[in-house]
Amino acid sequence: MGDLQIVRAEDPRVADLEASGYRLVGESWGARLHLAEAPDLTRIQQAVAGAEVSGITILELSAEYADAVCDLELANNADYPFTPATFQAPPERESIRGFWASGKRIFGALDGGVLVAVVVGQVVDGTGNNDFASVLSTHRGRGLGAAVAAASIVTFAKEGVREFTAGGAAANAGRLGLVRSMGFNVEEQWRSYERQLLLTCAPGTNLMPGICFARSVPATTSQLKSAMPT
Ligand SMILES: CC(C)(COP(=O)(O)OP(=O)(O)OC[C@H]1O[C@@H](n2cnc3c(N)ncnc32)[C@H](O)[C@@H]1OP(=O)(O)O)[C@@H](O)C(=O)NCCC(=O)NCCS
Repeated sequence: MGDLQIVRAEDPRVADLEASGYRLVGESWGARLHLAEAPDLTRIQQAVAGAEVSGITILELSAEYADAVCDLELANNADYPFTPATFQAPPERESIRGFWASGKRIFGALDGGVLVAVVVGQVVDGTGNNDFASVLSTHRGRGLGAAVAAASIVTFAKEGVREFTAGGAAANAGRLGLVRSMGFNVEEQWRSYERQLLLTCAPGTNLMPGICFARSVPATTSQLKSAMPT
């Protein structure tokens, strides 16, 4: 159990956190794409065209594809690098079925009718937020992540969106390469810090066995061991 703090890299609290025993457990970034008022989408559209000439179908997915999206995410979930700020929860079928009703927009790539790439985004207050993208491992490095991302940007841009956001783990070179290839600039760096909490049970209190309270103090390994039931 730990106390988690997620702060901007340039936040003055970084020095205090490091001095008071917090450990760096993840680094992440936020990126933005600003389109001109009359955007030239030619280059982005080429990513869609490039996939289509290789026989892949790129389209906005209807809710009928919910189970296929879930299956793709089940196959890919372990490949998302973990940081506390960018954690990709294991997919749940019911939650994915609810994407469409909650306003999310999903774009996919079909290879012979099989869903092999997906990007999930949503327009919130006029900004196109890119929630996540994933490509089946057998199909990576062939421009399909770029193709589905491009399809979402072009569609949103035609609907009037001019600002887009995306984020990812610093360790995720594929994600960073993907958003940069769409013209995004990394504008924010984030750090996740964690400090262990010491688990203590007040002596003589009538607690259920195994139930302890967490105190927000730094814990050394020996403190943690001595707080463990023997
Ligand atoms: C990230 C991911 C979606 C990229 O999909 P992809 O289809 O392999 O990417 P593309 O082939 O379309 O490549 C798009 C751009 O990213 C770059 N790129 C892709 N993978 C890369 C890698 N591992 N390292 C560096 N750059 C990479 C490509 O060079 C290309 O840039 P370019 O056009 O300037 O050459 C895919 O690797 C994936 O599904 N990963 C697991 C899930 C995940 O981490 N998703 C992202 C978090 S939301």
